[in-house]
Amino acid sequence: MKFSLFNESKSREVIDLFKIVFSASEGEEEGQVVADFVSNLIATTAPQDLIGCIAEENEIVVGCIFFSRLTVPSGQVAFILSPVAVLTDVQSTGIGQKLIKYGLDHLKSLDINLAFTYGDPSYYSKTGFEQINESIVKAPCHLSQPIGWLAQSLDGQVIQPMVGSTQCVEALNDPGLW
Ligand SMILES: CC(C)(COP(=O)(O)OP(=O)(O)OC[C@H]1O[C@@H](n2cnc3c(N)ncnc32)[C@H](O)[C@@H]1OP(=O)(O)O)[C@@H](O)C(=O)NCCC(=O)NCCS
Repeated sequence: MKFSLFNESKSREVIDLFKIVFSASEGEEEGQVVADFVSNLIATTAPQDLIGCIAEENEIVVGCIFFSRLTVPSGQVAFILSPVAVLTDVQSTGIGQKLIKYGLDHLKSLDINLAFTYGDPSYYSKTGFEQINESIVKAPCHLSQPIGWLAQSLDGQVIQPMVGSTQCVEALNDPGLW
């Protein structure tokens, strides 16, 4: 298994991966929604605000994750993980967790202070994410499932309560995704 950073030469393969994986797990409509989101994320996010990571087996992309910049009122540097997909045939073999750890290590190497995500706490707790109340850090959009608002510190400092709103990148600033 080879882990590396995403670059635009992989865009088509990665968009197709998200479409196939989410169509299989959530239905075709959701597969298209996520594929459109990823396509938009790649097309509209400034390079310094987007970090993608891919897992490849025999030159085929079998997993992909994206982190995009989340502007927080404390002035710390923060990124949010979304979305995440591992090819259906090879799910539950550890690729998702290894890919997320690879990505978090890369974020740490860039001196990024905080990582957020929005998803199943039981899955993302395996890679260090913990539930965070919006009284500590607000989400950039209304959360349909506040239980899924998760964060972790990457610099060893405890996450302090922040006053003010947060801002995600344009592609993620869609209430339907939250
Ligand atoms: C969710 C997903 C990324 C996990 O990646 P993965 O490589 O299959 O997972 P891993 O092998 O790293 O981890 C497996 C563990 O996570 C658990 N797990 C897998 N998918 C899960 C999910 N959707 N919710 C909660 N737990 C999950 C498994 O039960 C397993 O637990 P165990 O090790 O205690 O048995 C992958 O299954 C996937 O792409 N699913 C469809 C798309 C999706 O739901 N993406 C996440 C939302 S953006």
